[in-house]
Amino acid sequence: MSASRRPAAVIVLAAGDGTRMKSDLNKMLHRIGGRTLVAHALLAAARTETAHVAVTVRAQRDRVAPHVSEVWPDAVIADQDEVKGTGRAAECALGALPADLTGTVLVTYGDTPLLTTETLLELTAVHEGAGNAVTVLTAHLEDPTGYGRVYRGHDDTVHGIIEHKDALQARHEGGDLAHALDITEINSGIYAFDVEVLRASLAKVTTDNAQGEKYLTDVLAIARADGGRVDSHSIEDIWQIEGVNDKVQLARMGKELNRRTLDRLMRESGAIVTDPDTTWVDAEVTVGRDTVLEPNTQLLGATSIGAGATIGPDCTLKDTEVGDGASVVRAHTELAVIGPKATVGPYSYLRPGSEVGPDAKIGTFVETKNSQVGRGTKVPHLSYVGDATIGEYSNIGAASVFVNYDGVKKHHTTIGNHVRMGSDNMYVAPVTVGDGAGSGAGAVIRKDVPPGALAISVAPQRNIEGWALDKRAGTPQAAAAEAALAARAGENTQDDNTHDTDSTHDTDTKGEGATA
Ligand code: UD1
Ligand code: CA
Repeated sequence: MSASRRPAAVIVLAAGDGTRMKSDLNKMLHRIGGRTLVAHALLAAARTETAHVAVTVRAQRDRVAPHVSEVWPDAVIADQDEVKGTGRAAECALGALPADLTGTVLVTYGDTPLLTTETLLELTAVHEGAGNAVTVLTAHLEDPTGYGRVYRGHDDTVHGIIEHKDALQARHEGGDLAHALDITEINSGIYAFDVEVLRASLAKVTTDNAQGEKYLTDVLAIARADGGRVDSHSIEDIWQIEGVNDKVQLARMGKELNRRTLDRLMRESGAIVTDPDTTWVDAEVTVGRDTVLEPNTQLLGATSIGAGATIGPDCTLKDTEVGDGASVVRAHTELAVIGPKATVGPYSYLRPGSEVGPDAKIGTFVETKNSQVGRGTKVPHLSYVGDATIGEYSNIGAASVFVNYDGVKKHHTTIGNHVRMGSDNMYVAPVTVGDGAGSGAGAVIRKDVPPGALAISVAPQRNIEGWALDKRAGTPQAAAAEAALAARAGENTQDDNTHDTDSTHDTDTKGEGATA
């Protein structure tokens, strides 16, 4: 079967209240797989390469319409008036489309997020191939409760659709529509129509039913009565036609979408997913060949991961780009770029604007923000790097802070290549450290450090001998000191070997603060 025909237009119905969601947010704007429900529907529609996508809105119009335009700027927004029902919704959309439109128009729902473009193209092909006036996408369900039922005549052709509520009402009143409750073939709510048939039939639809609404489903019987061919196309994959009505379904659909995303990444991209049950990947994310996603990993938004990388366990990466062969363990990142073969974590927090160069390392309890860390540079332990540019193959000692904020403004720190900075350094921005420079432990870098210089800002250490014995007499501290001093005195008399207890000579020049 050829699935290459594209529909002339796709109408997405998204005007409903969605009251069963019990939410302040309209149903269409709830998210699974990193996209709103209506965005899933819009993208499935738009990717058929149809010339027109029309979306009917009404409930929370002020929030839904701008969102639709953001996701698909070419979408035509159609406002539904106070007349209720799917039929009216479709009619309003038709009114917003060109009056001279001909060919096939598809109708889908904004709350059916797993429906694929392939299914829409297949429906179009079946519809046009058979020369139908209407083709309804149907499924056989064990429990068809709530759905419209596909009513067939003795010749097995589709005669129409009977809504669940109307069948129920008929049962109470002893009407002959009651038998529809036994039908297990359901209306998915997704159709292909000949646009002229749809227009003419909708004009004849009334609100004479259990819900007082203008039903789109009534178009089938009307089109048939007017001599059109009405047929069905049945779908096996019932997830594709499942709508979200409440938050339980939202979670169920979200989990299924995730399963499908992971299957695709494993089968098509060659990713390795250790535990699909605890790995959550948004619909847009890409993952390269042989990259391992370890348990409890979330890849969100526009995240892309190269090949041969390891992500996780316990990672949340949002809008983050990770290069080939990188390793990211127990990290939280957002709007960050991690270069090839770089290592991040465990316990790292990369905030927006963090760029970690190739082979660079961001280590344990390190937070970065709006900073570039050059190739091969290491920030291994307990540090904050904010508003900084660090060159290549440099080392930032443990427990260092880029003091970027003076209480009013943020300032930048620039550090060169092959720099060896001590531990517990404070870089009071704006400040620049030249290539090949270094610093002692505990330095507070307030002035620029020229290339190759060693910066020392800590006063020489001074020891007050006997302080504990004098000021803390009678405490365990004093007792411990006394014992150690007595032992040392004993050693000294035995070996006649004098210890240097004068520590005033300069130890800071060793640059001992570095950590690697
Ligand atoms: C509809 C069908 C039913 C089908 C079911 C499949 C009708 C009359 N019934 O029932 O046969 O089995 O879908 O899920 O069509 N909407 C509007 N404007 C409205 C009403 C609804 O835009 O006035 C939109 C909703 O936002 C939603 C979609 O249409 O996206 C379906 O509406 P919903 O109320 O869920 O239809 P059902 O009663 O479930
Ligand atoms: Ca529904």
